[in-house]
Amino acid sequence: MQVFKHIHELRSQISVQKVRGKKVGLVPTMGALHRGHLELVSAARRENDVVVASIFVNPTQFNNPEDLKKYPRSLETDLQLLEAENCDFVFVPEENEIYPEEPLTKIQFGYLNSIMEGAHRPGHFDGVGLVVGKLFNIVQPDRAYFGKKDLQQLTIIKKMVHDLNFDIEIIPYPIVREKDGLAMSSRNARLNDEERKEAPAIYRNLELISERLSKQETSFEAAKKSFIEEVDRHSTLCTEYIEVVDTKTLRPVENLGEGKNVSICVAVFAGNIRLIDNVSII
Ligand code: PAF
Repeated sequence: MQVFKHIHELRSQISVQKVRGKKVGLVPTMGALHRGHLELVSAARRENDVVVASIFVNPTQFNNPEDLKKYPRSLETDLQLLEAENCDFVFVPEENEIYPEEPLTKIQFGYLNSIMEGAHRPGHFDGVGLVVGKLFNIVQPDRAYFGKKDLQQLTIIKKMVHDLNFDIEIIPYPIVREKDGLAMSSRNARLNDEERKEAPAIYRNLELISERLSKQETSFEAAKKSFIEEVDRHSTLCTEYIEVVDTKTLRPVENLGEGKNVSICVAVFAGNIRLIDNVSII
């Protein structure tokens, strides 16, 4: 496995592979790798000749400076984990490699940025769009892998790829969960014992209301209300939002019409740690 800090070095190695006709898979990450990331790498390994992972805690996507400061970092362990997954190239740029000067380019996502994460984390998707666009141009992968936990991020990236004609196939990967159902996230490492104990209530209640909705035992409004009541009765948990949306467009839906794929998306604070999760009802 080769580790690169500089764009020109990574680019020249990738172009050697591309000239040989090799397919390149990219797994963009912010490090603090967990099994969810490693499954993306392993999928990329199965489907491509060359696997590139990037580790960059992207400052432009943090709307909260404290969150950026406290974001978990574990580069040494991350590199060992990637090596064990047979990753070929790891890109670990410093901040000034990616942002040598203040970027003025903004990719705007219209409606997609006005709801859920976009509404609660102003500027977040501007930063995600910018850095993912840069990574796509730097690596020029054939395929790029993203987890479905960040459903809105996935939707925005698919739209960007479509709108800007990036010649890249976006591969969504199912949410990877702990045994007790908690969606894997780098932020889980920051939960204290009590928060960690209570956090699985998020998925438990998502499953519960999704089952009731699919059996038409409850209305959307009652389901949302019951999720908030059940989750927020835990002393460390506080729901920020719960939305029922069309999985493709992220537009709100009022009922489970024929053939609709609907997702229930939530953000819940466990103490100061903000967790997101979603389930889909087909
Ligand atoms: O999902 C993430 O970890 C980040 O948002 C990403 C896609 C690596 C961009 O910084």
